[in-house]
Amino acid sequence: MTKQLDNSNVFSFRALFHNLLFLILFTQLFSFMIPCQATCRKVDRDSLLAFSFGVYSSNPLKWYSSIDCCMWEGVSCDNINRVIHLLLPSRGLAGSISPSLANLSHLSQFNLSQNRLSGPIPDGFFMAFKRLVVVDLSENRLTGKLSDFDKLMSTVKTVNLSSNHFQGTIQYAFFQQAVNLKSFNVSNNSFSGPIPSSICEFSSSIQHLDFSRNLFLGPISEGFGQCSDLQSLRADVNNLSGDVPSDIYKVSSLQELYLSANRLSGPINGILVNLINLRTLSLYDNKLTGTIPQDIGRLSNLEKLFLRKNLLNGTLPPSLANCTRLVMLDLSFNFLEGELSAFDFSKFIQLRSVDLGNTSFNGGLPASLYSCNKLTAIRLAHNKLNGEISPGIMGLPSLSFLSLSGNCLNNITSAIQILQGCKNLRILLLSQNFFDESLPDDDSLIGSDGFQNLQFLALGGCRLTGQISMWLSKLRKLEVLNLSLNNITGSIPAWFGDLPNLFVLHLSHNLLSGYFPVELAGLRRLTTKLSTDQVDQSYLEFPIFSEYNYASSLQYTKLSYLRPAINLGSNSISGTIPTEIGQLKFIFFLDLSNNNFSGSIPDIISNLTNLEKLDLSGNHLSGQIPASFKNLHFLSSFNVAYNDLEGHIPVGGQFETFPNSSFEGNPGLCGEFLPHSCSGQSETTLQKGTKRKFFNWLSFEIGYGISFILALLAGLKFL
Ligand SMILES: *[C@@H]1O[C@H](CO)[C@@H](O)[C@H](O)[C@H]1NC(C)=O
Ligand SMILES: *[C@@H]1O[C@H](CO)[C@@H](O)[C@H](O)[C@H]1NC(C)=O
Ligand SMILES: *[C@@H]1O[C@H](CO)[C@@H](O)[C@H](O)[C@H]1NC(C)=O
Ligand SMILES: *[C@@H]1O[C@H](CO)[C@@H](O)[C@H](O)[C@H]1NC(C)=O
Ligand SMILES: *[C@@H]1O[C@H](CO)[C@@H](O)[C@H](O)[C@H]1NC(C)=O
Repeated sequence: MTKQLDNSNVFSFRALFHNLLFLILFTQLFSFMIPCQATCRKVDRDSLLAFSFGVYSSNPLKWYSSIDCCMWEGVSCDNINRVIHLLLPSRGLAGSISPSLANLSHLSQFNLSQNRLSGPIPDGFFMAFKRLVVVDLSENRLTGKLSDFDKLMSTVKTVNLSSNHFQGTIQYAFFQQAVNLKSFNVSNNSFSGPIPSSICEFSSSIQHLDFSRNLFLGPISEGFGQCSDLQSLRADVNNLSGDVPSDIYKVSSLQELYLSANRLSGPINGILVNLINLRTLSLYDNKLTGTIPQDIGRLSNLEKLFLRKNLLNGTLPPSLANCTRLVMLDLSFNFLEGELSAFDFSKFIQLRSVDLGNTSFNGGLPASLYSCNKLTAIRLAHNKLNGEISPGIMGLPSLSFLSLSGNCLNNITSAIQILQGCKNLRILLLSQNFFDESLPDDDSLIGSDGFQNLQFLALGGCRLTGQISMWLSKLRKLEVLNLSLNNITGSIPAWFGDLPNLFVLHLSHNLLSGYFPVELAGLRRLTTKLSTDQVDQSYLEFPIFSEYNYASSLQYTKLSYLRPAINLGSNSISGTIPTEIGQLKFIFFLDLSNNNFSGSIPDIISNLTNLEKLDLSGNHLSGQIPASFKNLHFLSSFNVAYNDLEGHIPVGGQFETFPNSSFEGNPGLCGEFLPHSCSGQSETTLQKGTKRKFFNWLSFEIGYGISFILALLAGLKFL
């Protein structure tokens, strides 16, 4: 830090020297050549030069190249040669804002956004500019507080201080004179204290207010109701609590209201429906209670309704169907209930995504949803929906994301047959449905060429029987397959290895037998480094919750964020672990636990340097743990418990961090932290071993002895 500062000082001193030199040179030159030419005022020039000495860039400002500062890059003047604009956005400028800038007393537009400026805004800065209209310092690294004695002047219309490191409270006096303020954006800083809702007392014609992503705290006090032109109010991602003050709902000019990701409580006031211009209502991730306002349908301009993750109950108000401009609807993670198919979705002709997951809706899948033909994403997971998927769903030509996991749907064969007709389907999550049915076989999907765009198929936790059939081998775009927690029998097909995009394969907790197919160790995505443009980097319509990971709350917003994994745990796979497994260089999780693997642990696993989790527990593996495993630097979870391993546990590297439970159930293993320490191994282990053998022998002998005696007695008695 200090070093950097020193460097920058040296840098600016050098710049200062350079600039001065040129300045003197040019002053001399120009005073001879064009003595009468009107140029910018000395006070402005000096002020700008002082500013330029305080900033640096790999592409420096070449302001010394002319004496007339009105000609300088980013500067413009009025007809009396006073500087009115200083516009240097995205100019790679670092350093700090010189207090001397305050001498630009005619400045009206000031834009230094998207640079790397740091340090505080000079004290009383905003008061100095009596003609300032636009100030944009967004996306820098500015720090400090808005000084208690600073004020915005009455000329100011637009203030953008967003995406900096400002902190402290915003005093209401800051706005006292800002009667013409139209837009005030301080999002993405560390401002704290109460949200300054009193701003509307002074700046009553404000249109855009953005307080989002700060540390504003406590209840929102009344005040916003006085901003009668307010179009956009954002205060999401703060620590706001208490009720939403009802005067907000009186601002009928509001087009967007973002109060999501706070700790707001209480019911949603029914007078909300007065906001007839509202296009976005985002209240997700709060603690709101009660029902959705019954006449919400009066919000006829509503395009986005986000009420996710609250404590809302009751049914879907029928009037919602009148919000015919809805594009996105997210009511997930609430306590809503009732028969979903009773609601009429058919008028939502603009609807692109709907998430009603993790609520308590029941009944069949709502067929009226299938007339919303712009739909790309549907999530109805974790409700109490039942019945079959009807062919009507094929009427959604753009459907790309469908999640119906965790319901009570039936007839998987019919479901797969129908869904193949959704040609653009990329993500299909159907886990925890279709209980005890059989995985569709090839005969039932004969001649199918569906699912050509499918990237993610989840059918876990369905207790499905049957075998893994060939139709899955035709899904050439498949990246993630989850068939875990079923009762699938047979062996793991070799063709998995040919799926060019597969990188997450979960087959755990089934009844699979046979060997580990060596072809699996040839999976392209796990053996070759793909460049980022070869991997799908697009955002998913909805985040996917990891259904199988140990940290179960993980959410993924892109497929490429998923960790490459093969999980074959808890099956009946036998044979050795093939050495070809050493080719899976890009795998993060490898779980072969609770199978019948035998033989030794291949040394070559130590080549899988990305490995974070390796579970080989509960097999019949013998021999030693390869000492080279201590080179697996990312390994954070390692388990070889309950095998027949022997010898020393490797010392060093991550092995210092694994618990004893990772090694238990291998009587022949010894290590520093195990009951069997390797120092004095010959003594303790041998002794224990001998003792155990002795006891085994003893119990056998005693048992044998007793039964022998009993038999003898019985025989005697019989005789
Ligand atoms: C500042 O300049 C940037 C880049 O040209 C522009 O996007 C932004 O709108 C300007 N700010 C204001 C308030 O005009
Ligand atoms: C505030 O600025 C941020 C960028 O820093 C931008 O994303 C956001 O849209 C702005 N808010 C408004 C209401 O324009
Ligand atoms: C939808 O709006 C129409 C026209 O305003 C009205 O007649 C109807 O009752 C509304 N529907 C619902 C379910 O509120
Ligand atoms: C599943 O659906 C198909 C096609 O609609 C039908 O023929 C079959 O009888 C259904 N199976 C069950 C178990 O309901
Ligand atoms: C394992 O890694 C070593 C060292 O990087 C390399 O020489 C060897 O070829 C690798 N083995 C396989 C099978 O990839």
